[in-house]
Amino acid sequence: MDKLMITGGNRLDGEIRISGAKNSALPILAATLLADEAVTICNLPHLHDITTMIELFGRMGVQPVVGDKLTVEVNPTSITTLVAPYELVKTMRASILVLGPMVAHFGYAEVALPGGCAIGSRPVDLHIRGLEAMGAEITVEGGYIKARAPEGGLRGAHYSFDTISVTGTENILMAATLAKGQTVISNAAREPEVVDLAECLIAMGAQIRGQGTDTITIDGVERLHGARYAVMPDRIETGTFLVAGAATRGRVKLKDTDPSILEAVLLKLEEAGAQIDTGKTWVSLDMKGNRPRAVNLRTAPYPAFPTDMQAQFMAMNAVAEGTGTVIETVFENRFMHVQEMRRMGAQIQVEGNTAIVTGVEKLKGAPVMATDLRASASLVIAGLWADGDTLVDRIYHIDRGYECIEEKLQMLGASIRRVSA
Ligand code: UD1
Repeated sequence: MDKLMITGGNRLDGEIRISGAKNSALPILAATLLADEAVTICNLPHLHDITTMIELFGRMGVQPVVGDKLTVEVNPTSITTLVAPYELVKTMRASILVLGPMVAHFGYAEVALPGGCAIGSRPVDLHIRGLEAMGAEITVEGGYIKARAPEGGLRGAHYSFDTISVTGTENILMAATLAKGQTVISNAAREPEVVDLAECLIAMGAQIRGQGTDTITIDGVERLHGARYAVMPDRIETGTFLVAGAATRGRVKLKDTDPSILEAVLLKLEEAGAQIDTGKTWVSLDMKGNRPRAVNLRTAPYPAFPTDMQAQFMAMNAVAEGTGTVIETVFENRFMHVQEMRRMGAQIQVEGNTAIVTGVEKLKGAPVMATDLRASASLVIAGLWADGDTLVDRIYHIDRGYECIEEKLQMLGASIRRVSA
């Protein structure tokens, strides 16, 4: 199993380009199943989760054509099997995103229940209830969600999410595009990835308004056609490299990204003492060689501070001046990186969903284990500002969400390499 070996102490300094957003690419790939012609998606990141989605399509008889620079053409008309099997779904929770499109377009879907995962119970009850509100008959048998559309197809409905759910909103949004009549989603997720999905669906002929607000209105259409659509840049990858720059007192410039969707993160980096400059498609951070100051933060749905950046900021706070409080409100049990950071000498106390981090001058390299995607990124950041070597194990988590992370960090001057055990 591959590991990452990091020798800490180098200030990051340099320029890299940001990849397409994983959390946008996955729902957009799922959305291609709604069309009755080929859809081409560009700027896909080269990641395990994307390959898993493509493999899932292969199992269903849809053979995506992979072109240059991971452009993928999907023609869903060749679908033969309306089943997403457990062995793929268990490796990627986001497989649940095919449920809405399949039942809306083909009238039936079987998707394995994703089950628990490392960062809390993460149920899918809200996805199921939303589809039921549109008339789908849903049973859960043998670990599979079996959903059938009523005679004549799904019907538009008013559906209000009890809790804001990103993939839940995306599933109902996709299903509603082909439903009869109007659907109104209240308490919808406002994440930029939801907006990107809506824009792709509109390019395919869907009628949607209100994306990016908490109320999305969809007027169902008879059919969706082919389109060509480029996935937006990854705001979490952008944020992760900025934090790595801040933790190492360095200077980084990130290109092919969109700073306008990173406001909460950029404000916190400025609070930590970074000079942030932005253009339309780039962002740069300069610590002028200074140690960051610890920041307080509280995660919540967009536009507030993203839970997917919490672990990385914890790593920065661990080497910052002062004490910072980190409150996680989106997921239970998302502090598993704390234990590993403590092995590197971090001073962190956890009380319920609050972590109090007191920065030390430098961490100490140690063997550590990645527990989930963003936690693994935080351990890499910790290793970049630690004395000696840090060996990060179980990096398959990191490969799910970061394209060429070691090459990109090397380009910024880090001492990092992949080793096969
Ligand atoms: C998505 C992102 C993930 C991010 C998360 C929160 C993708 C592929 N993944 O995950 O990177 O960390 O948003 O920004 O886009 N919940 C329920 N019932 C449901 C669905 C969700 O109770 O049916 C709860 C969850 O347990 C959690 C909260 O709602 O506490 C938010 O989860 P949700 O927004 O659904 O996360 P994902 O869409 O899975």
